[in-house]
Amino acid sequence: MEDLILPHEVVNLAGQLLLPAGARLDAGTMAALARSRSGPACTSQPFAALTDLQRDLRGFLAAPPYDTIFSDPLETAEILGLMGRVPLLQPVLDALDYFRAQDFHTYRHCLMVFALSTLLARHLYPNDQRALLGALAGPSHDLGKVCVPAAILLKPTPLTRNEASILKNHALAGYVLLVYYTGEAEHLTARVARDHHERYDGSGYPRGINAVDEMVEIVILSDIYDALISPRPYRPISFDNRSALEELTRMAADGQIGWLALKALVAFNRRSRPDYHHCDVSLERRGLAPVNNVYGLRVDEEDGRGAENGE
Ligand SMILES: [Fe+2]
Ligand SMILES: [Fe+2]
Repeated sequence: MEDLILPHEVVNLAGQLLLPAGARLDAGTMAALARSRSGPACTSQPFAALTDLQRDLRGFLAAPPYDTIFSDPLETAEILGLMGRVPLLQPVLDALDYFRAQDFHTYRHCLMVFALSTLLARHLYPNDQRALLGALAGPSHDLGKVCVPAAILLKPTPLTRNEASILKNHALAGYVLLVYYTGEAEHLTARVARDHHERYDGSGYPRGINAVDEMVEIVILSDIYDALISPRPYRPISFDNRSALEELTRMAADGQIGWLALKALVAFNRRSRPDYHHCDVSLERRGLAPVNNVYGLRVDEEDGRGAENGE
């Protein structure tokens, strides 16, 4: 962590500067940040008590493709029960309120990554509480987007290099915000926020590490999948479900994400629910990326093709 420099300042929704641009995010800085919050500890509420969020989530789960993934009522009730016990810090709830008003996609996306991560963790690591805990960080994985101006989040055209950098900063901003709010320098939710754009082959950000553990891996897969199948301002037509799964398969074949969680996701997309350990994933591509898709493009790239810059 010694060489991790914060590219852009982190200012919370209350307008408070937590760390300036250029801050070195080493152990000392993060420990000091964790101790710096004055006043009583942040309050939290269990997800089950949040009736508006519960209602919205149930609506999202009823729409394709999640209606297939969550087609077993008993299993869905169990997953909702697990999710319901998760405490959400007040600043995370404030951020979800903010997203609901300013960028509904991000609001919906946070809830769906939460639900899908919990389902995958429950099946992939039924006896590993750590894996489930990672999934439970789903609601706050994109918390750092409160630091990204809505004009960038909602921009319908390719981002400039600087805008892409501000957007990418949301991973570190979420890390900073969650360390501050939890009062723990290495809190699990903070680490998930920091690492959810990393890839196994080191091609991700912000650190370009390839040692992503299983807690974060499930959030990474859920995050990419939901991003691909969701319409965004820069991509009015989303990937269809087949194309999204094919894109994830390409990423697994390229070594960017793991196969096991992907196989589970593919199996859950079939109503017959084959055993994912034996579920074949075809490398054949039959779907098409959506037309007019500017996802991953930066306006100032010479050849019009940039690194993936957002979700
Ligand atoms: Fe993100
Ligand atoms: Fe995300």
